[in-house]
Formats: sequence, structure tokens, C-alpha cells
Amino acid sequence: MLSKGMDIRPEIHADIDAIYQLTQTAFAPMPYSDGDEGACINKLRADGDLTISLVAVEAEAIVGHVAFSPVTIAGVSDNWFGLGPVSVAPEKQKTGIGSALIKKGLAQIKSLGAKGCVLIGDPNYYCRFGFVGDGRLTYRDLPSEVVQWLSFTDEKPSGVLKYSPGLEV
Ligand SMILES: CC(C)(COP(=O)(O)OP(=O)(O)OC[C@H]1O[C@@H](n2cnc3c(N)ncnc32)[C@H](O)[C@@H]1OP(=O)(O)O)[C@@H](O)C(=O)NCCC(=O)NCCS
Repeated sequence: MLSKGMDIRPEIHADIDAIYQLTQTAFAPMPYSDGDEGACINKLRADGDLTISLVAVEAEAIVGHVAFSPVTIAGVSDNWFGLGPVSVAPEKQKTGIGSALIKKGLAQIKSLGAKGCVLIGDPNYYCRFGFVGDGRLTYRDLPSEVVQWLSFTDEKPSGVLKYSPGLEV
């Protein structure tokens, strides 16, 4: 269960190393990890593409993080954002922290005027937030069900998805 003492807030400069370590640790056991998710966040930040970076804090420790950055769809940059990486400390997973970070981040990009959000990930997890992987978006040779989108308007995205350079490794 989500701890009552957990707070979600935007990152501050002093969080940067902890975000890197958390991300590397959370992704390390994942078969789909290429081991550089922490570095990708640093590159997004350095490039000015880390539109939203939220941390979950419990007892003054960073136990979760989510990033959002601009994407292009069919070569057009039109207020769609990519979710990820998202990480929760292994010992704190499955307690609702990831969901809380994702919901708060989605609300924030929506309030910034985003048309919607895209991501690449396990549909069994992301469908609970309304994401669908129906083949409208494509990313390299990935299966259509993992390339997912959530629209905040009636507009449906269509075409090739491309992330900001920090995530296009
Ligand atoms: C994915 C992640 C951020 C989810 O955060 P979390 O705080 O553990 O998730 P929540 O507590 O909000 O949700 C738990 C639910 O998600 C499911 N879940 C968690 N990670 C999942 C995954 N990788 N694939 C499918 N389902 C997942 C759990 O089984 C649980 O399901 P239930 O509600 O039906 O019991 C976290 O597991 C993590 O850091 N994983 C390692 C890094 C990673 O893989 N990031 C995402 C890459 S797409």
C-alpha cells in the first residue's frame, strides 16, 4: 500500500545523482534494459528535453522517478510527450509508487497543453492508465502492442514515433 509519508515533487539539482542511481538499479534486472537509462535522463536534462522530472520521496530518500520529454510523430513536433524512463526502488515496487508518479506526470503534461503521451512498455502495466498499443504508432521493429499512446483530445496519433535525442540511442 502507498505510504502516507510519500511525497511527489519536481526534481531539484541535488536529486540528480540519486535519480541516476535509482534508475540504473531499477532497470538492472530487466531483460529489455540496455544499461544506460540513467545516462539517458542526464542527456535529456543536458539537452533541455526533460520537460517533467518527478521524484517520489519517502523518509527523505528518493524511491521513484518518472521523466517526460517531447517526441515527434510522423516527423512532426506537436505537443506529444514520451513517458519514461520510470523507475521505482526494487524494495518499494508494487506499492503504488509507479502509478502515483505516472498519474501525476500525465496530469502535469496535460496542464502544460500536451495533446497526449506515448511510451514503449508492457501493455499489461500501462493499459491501466488508458494507454493503447494498436499499431497506429510504430517504433523501429518493435511489436505494435508495446508502442502505446494516450490522447488527451479527440486526436489520434499516427505514424513513426521518434523520441528526443537523449532517448534515441
Ligand atoms: C515498472 C515500475 C515503474 C512500476 O512501478 P511500481 O511502483 O512497482 O508499480 P505499481 O505499484 O504502481 O503497480 C503495480 C502493478 O504493476 C505491475 N507491474 C509492475 N511492473 C510491471 C512490469 N514491468 N510489467 C508488467 N506489470 C508490471 C505489478 O505486477 C502490479 O500489478 P497489479 O496491480 O495487477 O498487482 C517498476 O516496477 C520498476 O521500476 N520496474 C523496473 C524499471 C522498469 O522496468 N521501468 C519501466 C520500463 S517500461
